[in-house]
Amino acid sequence: MAAENWQDVCATSDIPEDDVIAQTVGDQEIALYEVEGSYFATDNLCTHGQARLSEGFLEDGEIECPLHQGRFCVKSGKAMCAPLTEDIRAYPVKISGDRVWVDLG
Ligand code: FES
Repeated sequence: MAAENWQDVCATSDIPEDDVIAQTVGDQEIALYEVEGSYFATDNLCTHGQARLSEGFLEDGEIECPLHQGRFCVKSGKAMCAPLTEDIRAYPVKISGDRVWVDLG
């Protein structure tokens, strides 16, 4: 089993409702999402090209890449449609008080 690496990444209030933000943790850039009161974290770079998912559109639990409109499930990281062929990594999230913690593994 992979080692856990829980990081305190931001306050819950830093992530606007039904929206996405980018956050750099060490040398890793992740995207953080709020969907109907739940929080999710994935890699921020699209697997198709050089685009940041935090600049895309979040709708119905999926993030749409701003470059070619590929969509990923923010919960699983699964690529949902063309032109995507590769999933992004999704990270476990837990809330402690008003802080968002992400297990970067
Ligand atoms: Fe994201 Fe092409 S760069 S869909």
